[in-house]
Amino acid sequence: MTVKIGMIGAGGIARHHLNTLSKIPLAQVVGVFDVNRESAERAAASVGARVADSADALLNRSDIDAVFICTPQFARDDLEAVAAGRGIHLFVEKPLGLELDSVRRKEKAIREAGVLHSVGYVLRYYDTVQQAKHYLQGRTVHLVQAYRFGTSHPAAWWRQQHQSGGHLADAVTHQVDLIRYLVGEYRDVSARFGRSAIGELYPDATIADAGAVSFTLESGAVGTITESCISPFNGESEIKLFGPDFYVQLSGNGKTVTIIDKERHVTITSKRDPSYEQDKAFVEAVASGSGDSILCGYADGMRTLAFALAAHRSAESGGAVPVEDEGPPVMA
Ligand SMILES: NC(=O)c1ccc[n+]([C@@H]2O[C@H](COP(=O)([O-])OP(=O)(O)OC[C@H]3O[C@@H](n4cnc5c(N)ncnc54)[C@H](O)[C@@H]3O)[C@@H](O)[C@H]2O)c1
Repeated sequence: MTVKIGMIGAGGIARHHLNTLSKIPLAQVVGVFDVNRESAERAAASVGARVADSADALLNRSDIDAVFICTPQFARDDLEAVAAGRGIHLFVEKPLGLELDSVRRKEKAIREAGVLHSVGYVLRYYDTVQQAKHYLQGRTVHLVQAYRFGTSHPAAWWRQQHQSGGHLADAVTHQVDLIRYLVGEYRDVSARFGRSAIGELYPDATIADAGAVSFTLESGAVGTITESCISPFNGESEIKLFGPDFYVQLSGNGKTVTIIDKERHVTITSKRDPSYEQDKAFVEAVASGSGDSILCGYADGMRTLAFALAAHRSAESGGAVPVEDEGPPVMA
């Protein structure tokens, strides 16, 4: 079976998926839509697909089995619910939105429609992340230290808080997600965001340029995330997990993992392309009808979004706030 795919959005990440999907024999991209017709035409031509006149026209079950929704988080409307309602399986990029109410509504619509769904928390697909997850089963992490510096995006929407949700919600969401995935759910969060430098570079920016976030997990473990989207001379990300008798460190967005305990001191760097693994898992799921190989579904991605939203509420209120526990528990 060939899985026929429609692509909504033809920007940076959509082109990355088109390139990745072209390496997956089961996948065939048949249609592309973008509000920028030229972008859609270029992207469609690169894979021999046609250009659709609207997202609604693209979401036609007789043309496609699955859709990749790759528009920015402010520009998705009800696309996920419409696709699901028409029986179209969906892959949607992270983060899932900018507030929880509409995301909850869409989650319900997807669940009730019974279609397959995957969210772009791509770092979960590193074999190194899987090894860390396996190692951590049954072990107690009591402290998490994470950071991510220097991720900026060229698009104007990205610098607008009401369109991107800021660096924590958009880029650092990968680290927020890996902490959930590896250690467990968040209980509460307390955050501070600064804006002391971003105006020098981008006078129109409304996002923060730095964040200092602390949290408690359901397990009782505590941790911090520090982040900045302005860091031209130091662009790195790391998650350090401390246990009473072990230490686990994920570097380079999870590509490299170090595990230290009394019996071992190993560092492994992945040779896998997690984007390929992610897209292949989704395409194969659609072909087989089983979502077992999908590592992040919609409800799971919604819980990751909830953390950033709670962090911003905390910064406004000045105190710790609970992270709303919507959706199913993280997959074992
Ligand atoms: N998983 C990852 O690691 C990863 C990496 C990069 C981006 N992303 C996510 O992917 C999304 C898109 O990011 P990007 O880097 O491709 O942005 P981009 O600015 O490069 O491209 C966005 C595209 O969406 C189009 N668009 C905007 N509104 C639209 C609408 N209503 N309908 C159709 N098309 C519309 C724009 O014309 C543009 O072509 C964001 O949510 C971003 O956070 C995820």
